[in-house]
Amino acid sequence: MSSKEWQIHNPDGSKRVIVTKLLPGKRWLEVLRAANCRIEVCTSPDILTVEEIKTAIGDRCDGVIGQLTEAWDETLFAALAAAGGKAYSNYAVGYNNVNTAVATRHGIPVGNTPGVLTETTAEMAVALTVSAARRVVEADTFMRAGHYHGWLPTLFLGNLLKGSTVGVIGAGRIGAAYARMMVEGFKLNVVYYDLYQSKALESYIADYSEFLQAHGEAPVTCTRLASVEDVLKVADIVSLHPVLDATTHHLMNQERLGLMKENAILINASRGPVIDEAALVAHCQQYPDFRAGLDVFEDEPAMKPGLAELANVVIVPHIASATGWTREGMATLAASNVAGILNGYPVWQDQNNILPFLGDHPPKAAPSIVNAKELGLPTA
Ligand code: DGY
Repeated sequence: MSSKEWQIHNPDGSKRVIVTKLLPGKRWLEVLRAANCRIEVCTSPDILTVEEIKTAIGDRCDGVIGQLTEAWDETLFAALAAAGGKAYSNYAVGYNNVNTAVATRHGIPVGNTPGVLTETTAEMAVALTVSAARRVVEADTFMRAGHYHGWLPTLFLGNLLKGSTVGVIGAGRIGAAYARMMVEGFKLNVVYYDLYQSKALESYIADYSEFLQAHGEAPVTCTRLASVEDVLKVADIVSLHPVLDATTHHLMNQERLGLMKENAILINASRGPVIDEAALVAHCQQYPDFRAGLDVFEDEPAMKPGLAELANVVIVPHIASATGWTREGMATLAASNVAGILNGYPVWQDQNNILPFLGDHPPKAAPSIVNAKELGLPTA
């Protein structure tokens, strides 16, 4: 056990599960209790080091719920496997902190938490978009500083969203939800880049466009473009929603930022390293009408020098999924992943239909195991 404080639940449980951060809600504890687990929860807000987690795993540990701030690589999966571990779940939908190939080699299923943070995260991307477009944070700071001396025709002029073009890079679950919210809220046009065509998004927006026209409003469009560059050149707002991997690291670099309109808005609620943050700082310094809204940072929790001083950037501390419902849902899914595997359940296949796991009669399955196929696990 590490020197940090740990809470023990269900001390007589026959399986030992460690949870490296306190999670919200109670349902997740019930899920693990029902699977006969003794649950040990680290209550410290400090991010645990690999050594501390290894110590906590000890010589007997059946499963772990870990965090996106932890490096789950050879050291930890080897320790977990040696301690008899059979399951790991990330408390996140993203799992770029997990080396799934290594987990697979050690025979350990890796869970994540899709489906409960789609709208929540998209809503934050929308909030950042509106805040950046209408300069909400700058204006708030100005008010609090006592600088407001009366209405002026030129005070804090921003960008009108209606009728503009929003570009979405990565039109998966969250990117598509963001696109729909932006279209429904602001009646703008969508261009997107994704390796795959999103027929569902395109037909949704086509139907919405018909609805608008039936009500005497201008139509809206949704067009898939051939490259990231094509999106950057035409969009007034660009929101980034790719997974972080070697192909998307520094996707937004100096050259690509240079393709964007001088008064464009760049939003990132995916992963920090998707943007070369130093290049973004330089770009925002050079173009004061360019604006950015960031939920994530390249060297989280640190920011690159100069970022915090920029008035044209809105910054929040990786809270896009931070609503009570979502964070409790994530906890339930992470616990259900670990409990499901320890119970010997099959793996749920329909990632777009995960909400039954939050209901009163959850399926007897592990909701989302990302290396299920590689491990040859049975599916439900
Ligand atoms: C995730 O789940 O990947 C988010 O970044 C945190 O909720």
